[in-house]
Parts: sequence; structure tokens; C-alpha cells
Amino acid sequence: MSSVFAPLFAFRACAVAVALAGAVFVPAAQAATPADMVKGYTAESGKTANPVRGQQLFTTRQGREWSCASCHGVVPTQDGKHASTGKAIKPLAPAFNPERFTDSAKTEKWFRRNCNDVMGRECTAGEKADVLSWLMTLK
Ligand code: HEC
Repeated sequence: MSSVFAPLFAFRACAVAVALAGAVFVPAAQAATPADMVKGYTAESGKTANPVRGQQLFTTRQGREWSCASCHGVVPTQDGKHASTGKAIKPLAPAFNPERFTDSAKTEKWFRRNCNDVMGRECTAGEKADVLSWLMTLK
């Protein structure tokens, strides 16, 4: 290979690597299981998930008007009810609703929104791991 083309080849190899990484990464980031997600959050936080702490966070107010339970119920194995709109919310515990925690974009979107509503900030990875590990104990 002449030296004139070397940078071009390097660039193309790089572009291919990026495209491949994208192709592999994107679907994997979307389709998931609750067990995958708890593993991911645990790895991110570097702490072991604690279901008792998760239940506490979920069922108690964190300085604002609502707790998670205000909309999802204290034991979210049944339909919840939105605290302001009154709309029904399907069970959050994955054993009672197989769609839960199977789409990481959706899960992240709602964690972000709901933690902001309840705590005035986003939940940490450790808090998400705690809550999800508790939800997974509900059978
Ligand atoms: C004001 C009402 C409300 C409160 C309070 C609330 N949620 Fe939600 N939550 C919703 C609604 C509405 C949805 C989306 C509709 C659905 O998925 O059924 C949702 C969805 C979710 C999801 C998506 C799960 C998935 O993958 O399908 C998670 C996770 C979640 N909530 C966690 C929490 C946590 C944790 C708290 C407390 C920090 C909380 N929520 C507080 C209303 C609420």
C-alpha cells in the first residue's frame, strides 16, 4: 500500500468499526430483561443491589408530594393509578407484567421522569438497581 492511501484505509476501517459497533450495540441496548438491567445498573454503581433499600425508596416520600407508590401502589403487583390524572398504570413488578423492563429506552425515560417528580433529581444507578431488585422479588 502506498503511503498516500494509508490514511484513507485507516479512516475506512474506523468507519466500518463504528458502523459494526452501532449495529451490535443499538438492539442490545433496547431489548433487555429485568435481570440484564439490574446487572447493568449494579455494574454502573459498583454496589450490590439492595431490595430492602429499594422498597424503602419506593414506598416513602422523598421530600416532595408523591412517592413512587402514590402512582404505582405500595405493592406494585396490580394496576396503579396516576396521582394526578387518575389514569390506570399497569403493574410495575415484572412477574405481573412481562412488558416491564424489556426496553431500556423506555425504562430509562420513565426512571428519569418519575425520579425527578418524586425526588427532584434523577435516580442514581444504585437506586435503580435497588428498586428493580425489589420489584423482582414480588412474585
Ligand atoms: C405521578 C405518577 C408516577 C409516580 C409518582 C411514579 N411513576 Fe413510574 N410511571 C408512571 C407512568 C404514567 C409510567 C408509564 C406508563 C406505564 O409504563 O405504564 C411509569 C413507568 C415507570 C417505569 C417504566 C418501567 C418499564 O420498563 O416499563 C419505571 C421504571 C417507573 N415508572 C419507576 C418509578 C419509580 C422508581 C418511581 C419513584 C421514584 C415512580 N415510578 C413514580 C407514573 C408514576
